[in-house]
Amino acid sequence: MGLGHQCFGVRPADLLTCKQEGRPIAALTAWDALSAALVEQAGADVILVGDSLAMVVLGHATTLPVTLEEMILHTRAVGRGLQQPAAQQPLIVTDLPFLSYQCGGDAAVAAAGRVLKDSPAAAVKLEGAEPETIAVVDRLVRSGIPVMGHLGLTPQSVHQLGYRRQANDPLSQERLRRQARDLQAAGCFALVIEHVPAELAAGLSQELSIPVIGIGAGDQCDGQVRVTADLLGLTERQPPFSPPLLAGRQLCIEALRGWVAGLQPQSPPPPTNPVTPAAPHCSEPGLRDH
Ligand code: KIV
Repeated sequence: MGLGHQCFGVRPADLLTCKQEGRPIAALTAWDALSAALVEQAGADVILVGDSLAMVVLGHATTLPVTLEEMILHTRAVGRGLQQPAAQQPLIVTDLPFLSYQCGGDAAVAAAGRVLKDSPAAAVKLEGAEPETIAVVDRLVRSGIPVMGHLGLTPQSVHQLGYRRQANDPLSQERLRRQARDLQAAGCFALVIEHVPAELAAGLSQELSIPVIGIGAGDQCDGQVRVTADLLGLTERQPPFSPPLLAGRQLCIEALRGWVAGLQPQSPPPPTNPVTPAAPHCSEPGLRDH
């Protein structure tokens, strides 16, 4: 997309330029070297190592169990999968997992600092905008750590919110708008907004100066993000707001079935003489005495 500086690829600040120039931001998730290479080749500006990897890749029922170590491990694999010269690589953003930032600023700086020190991520994403979270964002940003916010359907709050569409009435829409403004004021460089009414997301994209990146939030946002496995139809069921582009799961199963079925029968090996087990020696201690 021609973004970026000489020794880095896309930087957080480049997303603001995209918004100002009306260029839509494309963000896709990746979880390992293989998926990162696909997403990079597809021309994504941002690779999100989302905590959805807990469900998509690690087989958990929610995003809650994934650990900071796992997020770092997968982000490193994503970095190794990139093939473009550094100056053309997408921006890697890694999700801070549940409980790595909810316990306060010190814990959050330690967790986000680990992500930036020990992996190729250049930014972190976190969910929500309660006053405690805003304080954490402020602290991270003032520590030099770029932060992407995430409002609307926030899967780390699944036990409170479920996976339903959020902000359906005027009161909760006003609350979400206020939270978005708070995240912007605290220094977030971009905001993901998930599964909310399209008009709300469109209005926020107009109102905020930072880019609004939608998923299940209509097509009038500054950018779009998708879980790559959903788009490719690899997950068992895709969310209603993220229909698959191809029946990837079925295609893979059929291809693999064809391979299994095509294995050539082999002639069995000739029978060998059965080996008669040696009789125990009667003077062997233990055998005789028991
Ligand atoms: O974890 C994730 O993949 C995400 C996207 C759904 C935005 O947060």
